[in-house]
Amino acid sequence: MALPLIMSMSSKWSRKRPHFPLLAVLLVFIACSVLYNEFSIQRIHESPDHVPTSQPAPFTYVKPNLPQPASEVLDRFSSCNSTRSFSGKKIRWAGLDVESGRRRRVSQESCDVFSGKWVLDNRSYPLYGESECPYMSEQLACHKHGRSDLQYQHWRWQPHGCNLKRWSAIEMWEKLRGKRLMFVGDSLNRNQWISMVCLLQSVIPANKRSMTPNAQLTIFRAEEYNATVEFLWAPLLVESNSDDPVKHRLAERIIRPDSVLKHSAQWEHADILVFNSYLWWRQGPVKLMWSGEENGACEELDGLGAMELAMGAWADWVASKLNPLKKRVFFVTMSPTHFWKREWEAGSEGNCYNETRPIDREGYWGSGSDLATMRMVDNLVSRLGSKVSVINVTQLSEYRKDGHPSIYRKFWETLSPQQLGNPASYSDCIHWCLPGVPDVWNELLFHFL
Ligand SMILES: *[C@@H]1O[C@H](CO)[C@@H](O)[C@H](O)[C@H]1NC(C)=O
Ligand SMILES: *[C@@H]1O[C@H](CO)[C@@H](O)[C@H](O)[C@H]1NC(C)=O
Ligand SMILES: *[C@@H]1O[C@H](CO)[C@@H](O)[C@H](O)[C@H]1NC(C)=O
Ligand SMILES: *[C@@H]1O[C@H](CO)[C@@H](O)[C@H](O)[C@H]1NC(C)=O
Ligand SMILES: *[C@@H]1O[C@H](CO)[C@@H](O)[C@H](O)[C@H]1NC(C)=O
Repeated sequence: MALPLIMSMSSKWSRKRPHFPLLAVLLVFIACSVLYNEFSIQRIHESPDHVPTSQPAPFTYVKPNLPQPASEVLDRFSSCNSTRSFSGKKIRWAGLDVESGRRRRVSQESCDVFSGKWVLDNRSYPLYGESECPYMSEQLACHKHGRSDLQYQHWRWQPHGCNLKRWSAIEMWEKLRGKRLMFVGDSLNRNQWISMVCLLQSVIPANKRSMTPNAQLTIFRAEEYNATVEFLWAPLLVESNSDDPVKHRLAERIIRPDSVLKHSAQWEHADILVFNSYLWWRQGPVKLMWSGEENGACEELDGLGAMELAMGAWADWVASKLNPLKKRVFFVTMSPTHFWKREWEAGSEGNCYNETRPIDREGYWGSGSDLATMRMVDNLVSRLGSKVSVINVTQLSEYRKDGHPSIYRKFWETLSPQQLGNPASYSDCIHWCLPGVPDVWNELLFHFL
């Protein structure tokens, strides 16, 4: 599983203090790249329907998702022959000029179910028992790994002004009959997938269900419904050198910013798709190896810029390949981290370790949820119109500083005496205990299906 990586990521992050020189360099870099883009008039993939009028086009546009027989498939052994700075190319995805796509996706009701509060409900929650789910992950089974305060399992999400549809596993299976539901993304999306499997599995007799071995694509199958609930590991959405679910590299990420074809070949058969992507872009820079680049030359770009390119390639697939009458697509927004206790309790040290209650300050927002990323996602999904529904889990999960495994999970690496003496130093404040917060993300999915 991907956890050694995510942990190395988290411990790195939790040790790092905000770094002002770095920020300054970043700002200069952004300023330079804006200037560069403004004046660059070089165009390679000029599409015929976009004839420049009086002004030259400021960017080089690349049409994504073109089959490239010459390109090697990226894997964890791939490397860049050379690296230069970002050339300013942009993804010209299919929806770019569609004016009607600008309209906001129609919400199904007037009530905003993402705005609300957590209420203690120890009669209906948890929706399943941790030890009753045979597919539970060792990284998420917090009670089993020593967590004794169990209130985190008993919270219900209560939208202001309306109620969520009541969860029913049978009703969910009826919606899934004859269909493939696929989660595509990183370990947070896998967290949500395991939650969904646990929510659904109990009503299927043990001999009528199966789980394929852990692989890039993992499949839970329920015979009597002829339905599957699947997870595809694709943390960066586009093709990358980190597409092996176990062995991947965060330190040197190489992506093909203009192609999701490697993964879409697997996800295109699903009927309901649930995507996420965020944390893997949080540490820059990312190396870009454009399709058709023959000599292994890369460009380098900051995480947000690279994510925007990848999301563009993803949006192009959604805009051009998806028939919304046949398939549903969801995008799950950023899952918040809780690395800095001082953000919810001024003047204190530490992180999510030892937290047992949600934050009750309405509108609380921590530094882990990047606003610029949210704006970028917001713009992009708006342009996709009704083809994508957003499951906006960020605000509701921000409140749940108590929902992370912290030290109560299986760790891959052996912990040193120094670490053991300072539990906050190795706490997992990224993923979520199950039963817990991702169950509510799935209730929201159920609500919109
Ligand atoms: C549920 O909560 C109520 C009030 O907070 C408490 O009195 C009761 O003991 C709890 N029940 C269980 C099963 O935890
Ligand atoms: C099962 O579902 C698949 C689609 O996922 C469909 O092609 C197939 O015909 C179904 N089989 C039965 C027996 O209904
Ligand atoms: C890197 O450069 C070497 C020598 O120029 C070449 O043989 C090799 O194919 C290049 N690698 C890639 C991935 O194109
Ligand atoms: C954990 O929380 C309890 C209760 O708030 C407190 O007494 C204890 O000192 C905390 N432990 C650590 C290591 O922060
Ligand atoms: C998600 O909700 C937050 C407020 O809670 C909002 O600022 C943001 O724009 C929303 N994101 C999307 C993609 O709808």
